[in-house]
Amino acid sequence: MKFGHFDDEAREYVITTPCTPYPWINYLGTEDFFSLISHTGGGYCFYRDARFRRLLRYRYNNSPADVGGRALYIRDGDDVWTPAWMPMKSTLERYECRHGLGTTKIQGSRNGVTAEMFYLVPLGETAEVCRLTLTNESSVVKTLKVFSFVEFCLWNAWDDQTNFQRNFSTGEVEIDGSAIYHVTEYRERRNHYAVFGVNAPIAGFDTDRETFLGLYNGLHEPEVVLEGAPRNSLASGWAPIGSHCLEVSLAPGESRDFVFVLGYVENPADDKWEQPGVVNKQPARALMARFSETAQVEATVAELRDHWASLLEISTVESPDERLNRMVNTWNPYQCMVTFNMSRSASYFESGIGRGMGFRDSNQDLLGFVHLVPERARQRIIDIASTQFADGSAYHQYQPLTKRGNNDIGSGFNDDPLWLIIGVVAYIKETGDFDILSEEVPFDNDEANTATLFEHLRRSFHFTLENLGPHGLPLIGRADWNDCLNLNCFSETPDEPYQTTANREGRTAESVFIAGQFVYTAPDYADLAEYMGFAEEAGAARKHAARMEGAISEHGWDGDWFLRAYDFFGQKVGSRECEEGQIFIEPQGFCVMAGVGVDDGRALRALDSVAERLATPYGIVLNQPAYSRYHVELGEISSYPPGYKENAGIFCHNNPWVMIAETRVGRGDRAFDYYKRIAPAYLQEISEIHRTEPYVYSQMVAGRDAVREGEAKNSWLTGTAAWNYVAIAHHILGIRPEFDGLRVSPCIGAEIPNFTVTRRCRGALYRIRVTNSLKHGEPLLKVNGEAAKGTLVPYAPAGETVDIDCET
Ligand code: BGC
Repeated sequence: MKFGHFDDEAREYVITTPCTPYPWINYLGTEDFFSLISHTGGGYCFYRDARFRRLLRYRYNNSPADVGGRALYIRDGDDVWTPAWMPMKSTLERYECRHGLGTTKIQGSRNGVTAEMFYLVPLGETAEVCRLTLTNESSVVKTLKVFSFVEFCLWNAWDDQTNFQRNFSTGEVEIDGSAIYHVTEYRERRNHYAVFGVNAPIAGFDTDRETFLGLYNGLHEPEVVLEGAPRNSLASGWAPIGSHCLEVSLAPGESRDFVFVLGYVENPADDKWEQPGVVNKQPARALMARFSETAQVEATVAELRDHWASLLEISTVESPDERLNRMVNTWNPYQCMVTFNMSRSASYFESGIGRGMGFRDSNQDLLGFVHLVPERARQRIIDIASTQFADGSAYHQYQPLTKRGNNDIGSGFNDDPLWLIIGVVAYIKETGDFDILSEEVPFDNDEANTATLFEHLRRSFHFTLENLGPHGLPLIGRADWNDCLNLNCFSETPDEPYQTTANREGRTAESVFIAGQFVYTAPDYADLAEYMGFAEEAGAARKHAARMEGAISEHGWDGDWFLRAYDFFGQKVGSRECEEGQIFIEPQGFCVMAGVGVDDGRALRALDSVAERLATPYGIVLNQPAYSRYHVELGEISSYPPGYKENAGIFCHNNPWVMIAETRVGRGDRAFDYYKRIAPAYLQEISEIHRTEPYVYSQMVAGRDAVREGEAKNSWLTGTAAWNYVAIAHHILGIRPEFDGLRVSPCIGAEIPNFTVTRRCRGALYRIRVTNSLKHGEPLLKVNGEAAKGTLVPYAPAGETVDIDCET
């Protein structure tokens, strides 16, 4: 069943009923200030760091779902309703939500009144702006009262949810005309506050939650609104909120706009006060002045649209399949940008107080956005590399505000270092900026201990080599890409973390996945070493890769597929000898992507085994058979009920590795088939099963062993976005930057007879027309009308346009 549709022209997803199977959300903001907003107006916003600078309080895992954050109430005579449907679940004559690129518009109508809330975070601002348009569509004069509502978080979201003995006494606000200031803790060490203002005189306000709602009332029954009179309450401790009351009279047919601004303001430490005890409001007043007229909002909307249009035109496809076009041209890159901004911090499944930036996650995310914002990708690389340890290992996570490694989780995930090479290689292939390799970058943020970025990569590469196990395969450490394969954990005590508790000391547990990742990374690393003039290192790297390939062949091949690992006792994981978990997806994808077994038929066999044993209509499950009981020697993977998460769930992150692997062996039809099984635009007809947003990928879809097969979870923040982009754009459509030129090598099977790609790269524009006749082993290219040799088109000078005809 569908709950909406795509508007491709407007680049919006249009939700036509508030009763979606789960809150369907969007993100506002591009740089420092971000909002999460659901189709009924739920969510919250924060400045830079969802944990330490949260403006709005939001209650996760609440029932009913998705209340809190913001609300808007309308009182029309004695009728009180909420145009976004929640929190009152008002019966609406018309409802529509349009989630677009950094904008969300929610519209509700009742009794001849339409209220439209249009939300955005304007470029360069640290504020969420909401333009409210009220229209009287009836034939009588309407006298309305409008009550805004936001609930403030006391900044530190973790502390806000746990430290009530203190926090119930710290809340403070100030009122200034139509602006409500949330100034909790400003008197002491903070020099920031929040402001919530509206560009019209107000009839009153409230800032104390209990006064506004009533102690035993929910957001669907606020006393103030039900009684129709603001109480001008001043919060002192307890729960500060911001609510304006506007009185609006509308003649038949009349429309009026109001602009609400919810902003974050920082003052210099020596300029905090206007007068003793009175907060310096100058920057806030200036902010609100920038949005005092609707026309100013319109101008920023136009700016934001241009911003997205210029980003998304960098790479586009036109094909006969509109679902493919909308994924590649809009929604997949959009999700990649959101993941770039958020990493794994704030979504409806990530609380914003947990994981921050992951080392491996951030490097992989980069693959999906590097072509869109290369300068910011460069900075991201430097930030990530700065958290690396001098021995090449890496903090698993770091905090976005401080950019420091997270000591709680530490290091020991032995795939992490290699992802840095993969990220840097992607950046250089896209930009040609080899200079980045000579940048001095600290280890563990210690400016007294720095080395060039290339040296960081060298240590990453050698970290793997210095940590090999008995079969010459890389030691897994706490886990590899699969965070839940914990082969040294042996946890029998609840409350112990699987990843950071290692109850056995040993150098035996090995990962075939990391081995494949090493072989995949080595040729690019060797090319970079050569470029830097380290010919010996380049030669050695190639030899190491060959040796690793040998180790995979000798000890990592199970007869019909690649093994997954050796456990602490040297027993095989992911082998037909195992009772459960006989085959895993990760090594099949990565080893074949690395080219292992491509020449001798093992790659094909491994991929056929994937098709036979792991592929389902909803995607490819992670392993089979699912673990039916807890295996202490394997860790968290076997803690999940069969079919969920890493225990035989469909981890959409690693499905594209198999798609890419299928293109590696020339089976485009299979690659594209797998692509369509998990690409959200193809799934909107089954939203009642899939449940999450039909415009973005989710991390996981429940697998065939699960009670709720086909149900997705953890939408938005997942490496799935970047890897699916790489799979479709680089390998299936087949246009990818390499060090010396743009590779044009489509592999999409018979379903798409022709398509056109436009791609900007290193300042030039490439227009590629593909006739997918599937007649030739290697595609035939004409570059600007001239027959070309091979499929690598040398980069053109910036400013030039290159026309490429490609026949497959
Ligand atoms: C993590 C990834 C990890 C994946 C598989 C995700 O939740 O963010 O880093 O690779 O799970 O375990």
